[in-house]
Amino acid sequence: MDLSAAFELRPDLVAWRRHLHAHPELAYQEHATAAFVRERLEQLGLRPSPPLAGGTGLTCLIAGDTDGPTVALRADMDALPIQEATGADYASTVPGVAHLCGHDAHTTMLLGAAALLARRRPEHGHVKLLFQPAEEGGAGAARMIEDGALEDPTVSAVFGLHVDPNQPVGALSVTPGPATAASDGLDIEIIGEGGHAARPHQAIDAIAVAAQVIVAIQQLVSRHTDPLQPLVITLGRIEGGFARNVIAPSVHLQGTARSFDPALRDRLPALLDRTVAGVTQAFGARHELTYRTGYPSLRNDAALIPTLADVVGELLGEGRLATGGPSLGGEDFAFYAQRVPGLMARLGVRNEALGLVHPLHHPRFDLDEGALPLGAAVLAGFARRYLATP
Ligand code: NI
Repeated sequence: MDLSAAFELRPDLVAWRRHLHAHPELAYQEHATAAFVRERLEQLGLRPSPPLAGGTGLTCLIAGDTDGPTVALRADMDALPIQEATGADYASTVPGVAHLCGHDAHTTMLLGAAALLARRRPEHGHVKLLFQPAEEGGAGAARMIEDGALEDPTVSAVFGLHVDPNQPVGALSVTPGPATAASDGLDIEIIGEGGHAARPHQAIDAIAVAAQVIVAIQQLVSRHTDPLQPLVITLGRIEGGFARNVIAPSVHLQGTARSFDPALRDRLPALLDRTVAGVTQAFGARHELTYRTGYPSLRNDAALIPTLADVVGELLGEGRLATGGPSLGGEDFAFYAQRVPGLMARLGVRNEALGLVHPLHHPRFDLDEGALPLGAAVLAGFARRYLATP
């Protein structure tokens, strides 16, 4: 049983996680992290791949006793550009960079699964470990796929865990079907004509036009798209103007669009362009819209859920795997799940007694390390169960 073996690994898992936590690296800069992972894998007698995905990604095949399908397990390794404020002994030693999304735990748990699987190899089929860079906005998963991470041998399913501070340690949840949103970026430039604040009729006030554009975009969401199809457009940044007595010649807006329905997502660039063009033209201004296609929506393959449910039931007991709802967050695991059947579950790391209650990306986010052996056992168990299922 992997759970007792995983509990024996606990001191190592905690030490690895704390090391990674104290030495976070941003997207595509995970050189020390990748070297740390490589070293641990080699100590287990495994042979990791050459560097992938810009140099900081790697895969590692754990061959089973006999040939069969290959199942992939995935961890992301990058940290966030946030100043940590946990005050923990193992807090980030890098100013302005910290593991506040739990990717240190993801990397650690996959190393734990590697240890469990290396010790007792699958009887039939193979396990491929995917250690990827740059989940936070850099689409590291797409780079891994481009570099062949799902080939040689061909991967037939992929599984991953994300830590979840909304659930207590020992609980997991999974969302069938659409689980995370497609996440795209918007850049809108509104171009007016500068002038003196006292003579607006001689200028085109880009700030006044921007105000109308912002309202019109919210009306686009509420009046031009199906209310039964989730859509959020948030304009998170606005910049323009020089001084209180100067009419601003231009305004720059930045935002994000989150959606699930691919057809709705395809319509968004044209809908936005029509809306912004109409409003700006009405006031004699011009615009430039850049729509940046980001991560696709993650579609969990419901056919893989019974495998996970069996594993969680066996390891942790009945009633520990809940069905979760979709989230408008983004997750680049979606790129793998576009190629092969994929499943991503959430692993509880909350501990109210220890004050471990802050959300992901919060400067004080931290997790209950009691979840690390559970996560390692669930990852390894999923792979075993998948390969053992005819
Ligand atoms: Ni994350």
